[in-house]
Amino acid sequence: MQVEVKVKNPYKVFINEGLNLNFKGKVAILTNPKIAGLHLKNLLEKIECEELFIISVKDGEEYKNLSTIEEILNQMCNSKLDRKSLLISFGGGVISDMGGFAASIYQRGIKFINIPTTLLACVDAAVGGKTGVNNHFGKNLIGTFYQPKAVYCESAFLRTLGQRELSAGLAEFIKMAIIFDANLLDFIEKIDAKNFLKAQCEDEIFIKIIAKSVELKAKIVSKDEKESGVRMLLNYGHTFAHIIENETHYKSYLHGEAVAIGMNMANHLSYELGLLSEEECERIKNLLQKFALPTYYKIENIHEFYQAFFLDKKSANHKIRFILPAPLGKGIIKEDVPKSILLKSLEHFI
Ligand code: GLY
Repeated sequence: MQVEVKVKNPYKVFINEGLNLNFKGKVAILTNPKIAGLHLKNLLEKIECEELFIISVKDGEEYKNLSTIEEILNQMCNSKLDRKSLLISFGGGVISDMGGFAASIYQRGIKFINIPTTLLACVDAAVGGKTGVNNHFGKNLIGTFYQPKAVYCESAFLRTLGQRELSAGLAEFIKMAIIFDANLLDFIEKIDAKNFLKAQCEDEIFIKIIAKSVELKAKIVSKDEKESGVRMLLNYGHTFAHIIENETHYKSYLHGEAVAIGMNMANHLSYELGLLSEEECERIKNLLQKFALPTYYKIENIHEFYQAFFLDKKSANHKIRFILPAPLGKGIIKEDVPKSILLKSLEHFI
């Protein structure tokens, strides 16, 4: 199956279409030791090009920073990649974020493609052209919008994922369902969690999750590539998650796990604002917990947590914007949340 992302330079997301790359120039594959050990040999058999280089960086969100970008750029220079070269990001969301960023600034921009190997990267990170890194102040504060030339999702890669990585990926799909399509919640509720978390579900389940997410995301990104409006909806749960990830130095939670907590926090806020019922909040909390996702984070300092909202990229002119379900299946952008109600909703987490 193929889905087109209709941005200025349109590209396709190929889902289980197989992969055979014949490229005229030099190719560098950005990956990490874990993915390389599991899947690189297989990938190399499918690539033909003038010269091939492997750039391997440490695995983990805590290494998604400017010093790793410098390391990647140095290796790109060392390999004498030129403006006709191609960078392939081969890994999860950390790899696709950094690969896209490095490709966007190397020699003012070279081509890149994404081959995601995690569920989270297939359903979200590898599609849509958000690239970047974290710094001391917050998550993804440094980066570019830079679209790949193509994305190749293959469900076979997901079979080697561990339980936490599968849960984290599913969290982003649950996000899509809550914001865009409540019918998808019924589908997710019917998935056999035990099999899914052992990567033993039927292939159709992986394919439906990827295909639905990519279709929804492609539609949104095609309308609003640079997030000046409707694309903000994809940030549901993330406003809270990014603060949690930063406070815990990117070491305690996978991104999707922090998003799960963030969604529960956003739902509490939605409830306090009268936009979501208690039953709906419970339904989502139960669903997240069914897939072994965390839903609670202890806020140590509520005022610091509150101040961190102002560094969120959706905040502007001293106004914080929240993405809230109102009700399940329909996300809204809310910007006039009274401070007292926000603090009251955060008090569930102290
Ligand atoms: N991960 C949200 C977006 O790509 O907009």
